[in-house]
Amino acid sequence: RVPGFVKIVEVGPRDGLQNEKNIVPAVVKVELIKLLVSSGLPVVEATSFVSPKWVPQLADAKDVMAAIQNVEGARFPVLTPNLKGFEAAVAAGAKEVAIFASASESFSKSNINCTIEDSLIRYRDVALAARELSIPVRGYLSCVVGCPVEGMVPPSKVAYVSKQLYDMGCSEISLGDTIGVGTPGTVIPMLEAVLDAVPVDKLAVHFHDTYGQALSNILASLQMGISTVDSSVSGLGGCPYAKGASGNVATEDVVYMLNGLGVRTNVDIRKLMIAGDFICKHLGRTSGSKTAIALSKT
Ligand code: HMG
Ligand code: MG
Repeated sequence: RVPGFVKIVEVGPRDGLQNEKNIVPAVVKVELIKLLVSSGLPVVEATSFVSPKWVPQLADAKDVMAAIQNVEGARFPVLTPNLKGFEAAVAAGAKEVAIFASASESFSKSNINCTIEDSLIRYRDVALAARELSIPVRGYLSCVVGCPVEGMVPPSKVAYVSKQLYDMGCSEISLGDTIGVGTPGTVIPMLEAVLDAVPVDKLAVHFHDTYGQALSNILASLQMGISTVDSSVSGLGGCPYAKGASGNVATEDVVYMLNGLGVRTNVDIRKLMIAGDFICKHLGRTSGSKTAIALSKT
């Protein structure tokens, strides 16, 4: 059994592009976002209000937000690592934000330069400020099955940090296999532990496809009742602080699988492919989506 409708959270413009070395002009990012919205995606993560020294690619966050203020049909959450980022995001017109914690100490240090507990203190401040403005906060949790430094991450740790994010008021908690090492063999026990702490309708899954396991992991998650899935058009992406991690699972591949399962998404796969083509041409790259490659030949 799988849910009848799955909400896809498109993270291509953020997770997909954040690791690109060559700066993609803001106008290209904006066009990509508009094409993604045209395909019917309900949520498109637009950018991050992080330190431009840490992620130079997204230093144009304010310009991107200004250009999409009048785009209708989708929600545009943005990443905010602290109050400074939150305030800049709100000033730029953001109506939803996301905070990002880690289940592994080493990754917390390399990604946001602090311990897990310190990050939670910082995030409680963001969550509080957001509540005052009725701004929904998504909580990401990285390294939910494996960490590039520490190796296996215990499910109990993932459940603990998830519960912290839930208790501070996150409207959704996205469980990220940041380096894409999980299989259903590790993902299912991790989800079982988290489901003891957080209601299923608050959970999302976020798989990177480094070992080609993302679709299997998504199917296992759907069978456990999760109905929000993160993905990136053309499988763009990687994480600057997780060397060797490949992109997110490709949105086209997720939509193809969900169509096959009879699960509704509201996404038009042909229109989605136009967005994928557009950004792949700009980056001078072939699509990372097997579905997009196959369908483009039909
Ligand atoms: P820090 O260096 O410890 O921070 O970085 P700081 O407070 O000491 O500030 C240092 C400088 O950054 C200062 O500027 C601040 O003003 C500035 P300076 O005085 O040197 O000129 N600064 C900022 N500037 C703009 N926006 C801000 C901001 N905050 C401080 N919000 C910090 C700490 C968290 C800021 C930094 O480590 C950072 O920006 N990290 C972000 C890293 C990132 O974006 N990673 C990728 C996203 S997470 C991910 O991809 C995983 C996910 O997809 C899930 C998964 O795959 O599992 C979500
Ligand atoms: Mg990611």
